[in-house]
Amino acid sequence: MVSETIERKTSHITTALHRDVQAHVPTGFDDVSLVHNALPELDREDIDVTTELFGHKLTAPVMIDSMTGGTPIAAKINAALGKVAEELQIPMGLGSQRAAVDDPKLAYTFQAARENAPSAQIFANIGCPQILKEDGIHRAKVAVDMIKADGLFVHLNALQESVQFEGQTRFKGALARIRELASTLSVPVLVKETGAGISRETAISVERAGVKGINVGGLGGTSWAAVEYHRSREKKRSRQARLGMSFWDWGIPTAATIVEVARSTRVKILASGGVRNGLHVAKTIALGAHCAGLALPLLKSVMKSGGAAKADLLTVIEELRTAMFLTGCRNLDQLHKGPVVITGRTREWLVSRGLLP
Ligand code: FNR
Repeated sequence: MVSETIERKTSHITTALHRDVQAHVPTGFDDVSLVHNALPELDREDIDVTTELFGHKLTAPVMIDSMTGGTPIAAKINAALGKVAEELQIPMGLGSQRAAVDDPKLAYTFQAARENAPSAQIFANIGCPQILKEDGIHRAKVAVDMIKADGLFVHLNALQESVQFEGQTRFKGALARIRELASTLSVPVLVKETGAGISRETAISVERAGVKGINVGGLGGTSWAAVEYHRSREKKRSRQARLGMSFWDWGIPTAATIVEVARSTRVKILASGGVRNGLHVAKTIALGAHCAGLALPLLKSVMKSGGAAKADLLTVIEELRTAMFLTGCRNLDQLHKGPVVITGRTREWLVSRGLLP
């Protein structure tokens, strides 16, 4: 069982690194324009990109999103990314901790991040099937304590579990468990999609259940149907491969899901799914997000070196600063309220959902 998990985790990394796993439909960021200000009336060096998330001061609203753990290579990745999170003082999510909850000998693969990031904000990670187990609340606490986490992501990945040949598709009762977790844990509980987005209806339900933040994990970046498509083909599971192909582009595009959640709740919104540069980050903030996360691009750069991942993130932050300069926004509050034009398919989506007139 544990070795099966290790095999799965390793193949997720190698598949994500070496195969086409991107959605074939857009995030919607191209439908979103920030209005250019030719006379910004501020000096670029005076722009403040710092922010605050659950009482933690961040140097920028950019995070290393949840990816891995459970294998020796994952321990190296988590150590390197943890060091980057600490140096930049930005948040980091860890991958699903299920393997280490089952087998404490694997805890070191996650703790590697915390050892290198003693003061950065780190989010623990556990899936719905895990919290639904009889001892689900205990399992979540173990995941949080293991890395002295500052918050917990409960990942909602019904799409992946549906396509994956080892998938666990028990989700009944999950909302009640999330409510129980939110009232029991001493750290904020957030839910997180992994590439199919969060609708307004789901956002409202989880906010009522006590969730303090939502990582929207929208469509347009890494597709978990695509990852599982490749894995199923390798295992000659033709029905699962077919499912992966059919649902490759399933979900709510990232730009649309941010607005779905922002217009219907007051939770903190973390935006991930196809965020590839600092202009994308700026657009997520203007649409209503509080922080944006990158996963696959950072996996690719950290495989070169920790320094390469850090350099990529610094570039993203410079791009964000440039977008703020060009829109005349001195700080993130101003960008949050700044003028934004939404066109094309994203506009059609939002109009048909009653989120835009
Ligand atoms: C992920 N992601 C993820 N999410 C999660 O909640 N738990 C997990 O264990 C993982 N594992 C994982 C592994 C790898 C290799 C990747 C690339 C991604 C999902 C991730 O956090 C993010 O939501 C999506 O990948 C979308 O962001 P990108 O990749 O388009 O930037």
